[in-house]
Amino acid sequence: MRLLSSLSLFSIALPLAAAALDPSTMTNHLAAGAPLLGAFEQSTSNLSSWMSSLSDSTPIQNLSIPGTHDTLTWNVSGIASIFTKTQDMPLFRQLDAGARFIDLRIGENNGLIQLYHASFLLDPTAQLVDVFWGLYHWLDAHPTETVIVSVKVDTGNTTATLEQAIYDLVTGPDAVDYWVQSTTLPTLGQARHKAILLRRFAFTLLPTATPVGIDASSGWSDNNATFTIPYGTGSDAIYIEDLYDINGTSVADVINNKFAAVSAHLDVATSTTYPNQLFITFVSGSSGTAVTPLGLAEGNGTTTPGANLKTLSYLAGKKGSRFGVVLFDYIGSDSRLVPATLSQPVDLSAAPRSVSAPTATGTTGTTSTRPPSSNWASSGLALPHQAVALVVGVTFATMLSFF
Ligand SMILES: *[C@@H]1O[C@H](CO)[C@@H](O)[C@H](O)[C@H]1NC(C)=O
Ligand SMILES: *[C@@H]1O[C@H](CO)[C@@H](O)[C@H](O)[C@H]1NC(C)=O
Ligand SMILES: *[C@@H]1O[C@H](CO)[C@@H](O)[C@H](O)[C@H]1NC(C)=O
Ligand SMILES: *[C@@H]1O[C@H](CO)[C@@H](O)[C@H](O)[C@H]1NC(C)=O
Ligand SMILES: *[C@@H]1O[C@H](CO)[C@@H](O)[C@H](O)[C@H]1NC(C)=O
Ligand SMILES: *[C@@H]1O[C@H](CO)[C@@H](O)[C@H](O)[C@H]1NC(C)=O
Ligand SMILES: *[C@@H]1O[C@H](CO)[C@@H](O)[C@H](O)[C@H]1NC(C)=O
Repeated sequence: MRLLSSLSLFSIALPLAAAALDPSTMTNHLAAGAPLLGAFEQSTSNLSSWMSSLSDSTPIQNLSIPGTHDTLTWNVSGIASIFTKTQDMPLFRQLDAGARFIDLRIGENNGLIQLYHASFLLDPTAQLVDVFWGLYHWLDAHPTETVIVSVKVDTGNTTATLEQAIYDLVTGPDAVDYWVQSTTLPTLGQARHKAILLRRFAFTLLPTATPVGIDASSGWSDNNATFTIPYGTGSDAIYIEDLYDINGTSVADVINNKFAAVSAHLDVATSTTYPNQLFITFVSGSSGTAVTPLGLAEGNGTTTPGANLKTLSYLAGKKGSRFGVVLFDYIGSDSRLVPATLSQPVDLSAAPRSVSAPTATGTTGTTSTRPPSSNWASSGLALPHQAVALVVGVTFATMLSFF
């Protein structure tokens, strides 16, 4: 609590300076993490510091926060990418583009904590500590911002060794100033220049440790369109939509069923019912082996708009509302997703344009046209369904009933 209260003495213009990190250690972590982080470039675009214009007193629960599901999957290639890839930009570019909630999946691998999607190792050598240091580097360059970091153990067991290692990573001397050291959500002013840990694992195997982070370790209802997780000591709760394996009779039907869950949840987030609670809405998902994450996000061409485009229209239609956290797959495929979540103006009549690479002076981040390959031509949907079934080693039964 000492850290939180001391922060209020500082204005937005002068955020609390964290203890300087050792430059050569940072260089090593940035190099080791590069396959997931991408290359760091100083971005001064509007969206790279969109929190700067908001009041310090704003509770995090009161914000609309764009983010990414399975954040670090951008460079998965080959056959595995069909169901494992959910993003099209590395972490630094996602943050520069305005994402402020990231979803990290981890596991213990030969004594190291590494990054996964399910049991798929995302990079052979990059470690969680490299990603965390990358985050500190980015926060040092954008001290008005905060990032909610969800951590979930996606493979193997959550051992005491793993809990201790993560605990040390967020409370150790280098890290302590970069993480909100609390179990409740801070105000934006208390969280600037820091990450907020959302734990999808417990610290129960560390009986003497003072817990840190928002505890979402129990009650995460699998594949559920609406559930609630209490946290902290009072009446705080997280309202979550996480329907990710969606039924349907066609691609369009699956997308409609997913969007029904998304819009129903956003209807509650934008209502006056729970103004002081955190909402998390996953726009992401897939359908068995028949609709890939890319197919759900982007549809199968202009005749079948994807969940991203449908959600974009919803957000633009409720401009000015509190949406809570909205998590996208392929967030870089349409540069309007982040501004619409932030209630900035977007042109719904224009064709989607991908998020451009950061530029030193750019203010829009929307200058490049969307490469055709990022549309559904590269999706699993573009492959013959039998081929998809063969390569992922499943039977045709699901798909035959599907198409
Ligand atoms: C992406 O992964 C491939 C291996 O699949 C690797 O060769 C390449 O260096 C990675 N790209 C980046 C930018 O790290
Ligand atoms: C970014 O641009 C939007 C819309 O043009 C504006 O409302 C907002 O204040 C700007 N934010 C910053 C941090 O400059
Ligand atoms: C919450 O956000 C709304 C706008 O979405 C604003 O009117 C209200 O003042 C905010 N409340 C707090 C406590 O910051
Ligand atoms: C996880 O724990 C269970 C039960 O304690 C054990 O059977 C299993 O082998 C463990 N798995 C791994 C990957 O260590
Ligand atoms: C989803 O969660 C809610 C609230 O816990 C529960 O009532 C409902 O049965 C769950 N639905 C499914 C399909 O698990
Ligand atoms: C999808 O359909 C199957 C088979 O009817 C059913 O068991 C399952 O609960 C459904 N899943 C959802 C999320 O509705
Ligand atoms: C997209 O999916 C719909 C059914 O959901 C189908 O009718 C249509 O032919 C598909 N479009 C393309 C380009 O495959």
